[in-house]
Amino acid sequence: MNINIKTFDEWAQDGRDEKMASNHSKSVKRILAIINQKTNKFKTPFSFLDLGCGNGWVIREITKKSKCEYALGIDGSSNMINNAKKNKIGVFKKIDLENYKFDRKFDIIFSMETFYYLKNIDKLFKKIVKDGLNNNGILIIGIDHYKENTPSLNWGSDYNLDISTLSTHKWKEKFLLHGFKNVEHEYYGAKEDWKGTLIIMGQR
Ligand SMILES: C[S@@+](CC[C@H](N)C(=O)[O-])C[C@H]1O[C@@H](n2cnc3c(N)ncnc32)[C@H](O)[C@@H]1O
Repeated sequence: MNINIKTFDEWAQDGRDEKMASNHSKSVKRILAIINQKTNKFKTPFSFLDLGCGNGWVIREITKKSKCEYALGIDGSSNMINNAKKNKIGVFKKIDLENYKFDRKFDIIFSMETFYYLKNIDKLFKKIVKDGLNNNGILIIGIDHYKENTPSLNWGSDYNLDISTLSTHKWKEKFLLHGFKNVEHEYYGAKEDWKGTLIIMGQR
C-alpha cells in the first residue's frame, strides 16, 4: 500500500482527521472566498470535486450552497472515506488519485493539502485538463508543504510520508505548462517563519 495512504488511514482511525480538518479550516475558508470573489462559479449551478477529501468536511460545507448540483469527494484512504460517509451528506469514493479515471467533468476542482503526495503530479494535471474540467472550469489548490515554507520541510520524516517539495514557481509553472489561464497565487495565514498556505487558482 502507498505509504501516504497508510499513514492517513491511521489518522482517520484515531481521530486525527478531525484535528487536521480544523487546522485547515481557515485556509479553506479563504479558498472558498477566493472562488466567490474572483469567479461566478458559486452564483450559477455548479459541480464540485474535492481531490483528497479526507473525512469529507469540505464537501459537507459545499453541499449547503444553494447552487450546488453535485459534490464528490475522493480519497485513497478507506478509513477517511468511511468517516466521510458517516454523515450521509455528499458523495464519496475511495480512489487512488494516481489511477483516477474521470467519468464526468466538473466546474470546480478543489484540493487542500494533497497534491504533493502524488508521485506523478503532471499525470493528474493532464487528466484534469483533458477529462476533468468543463470549459472555463477552475482548479484551485491549497498547499502548506512547499520549498519556501521552511517549518514544513521535515514533514516527510516527521510523519512517515513520501512527499514532493516544490517551490511556488514550480507549482505555478505546472498550471501554466498544462494550459491554465488566469493563474493566480497568494500566501494565506503567514505567521513568524510560517509562510502561509500557498493557494493557486487557474482556469481551463
Ligand atoms: C493532508 S490530508 C488532507 C485532507 C483534506 N483535504 C483536509 O483538508 O482535511 C491528505 C489526504 O490526501 C489523501 N491522499 C494522499 N495520497 C493520495 C492518493 N494517492 N490518492 C488518493 N488520496 C490520497 C490522504 O488519504 C489524505 O486524506
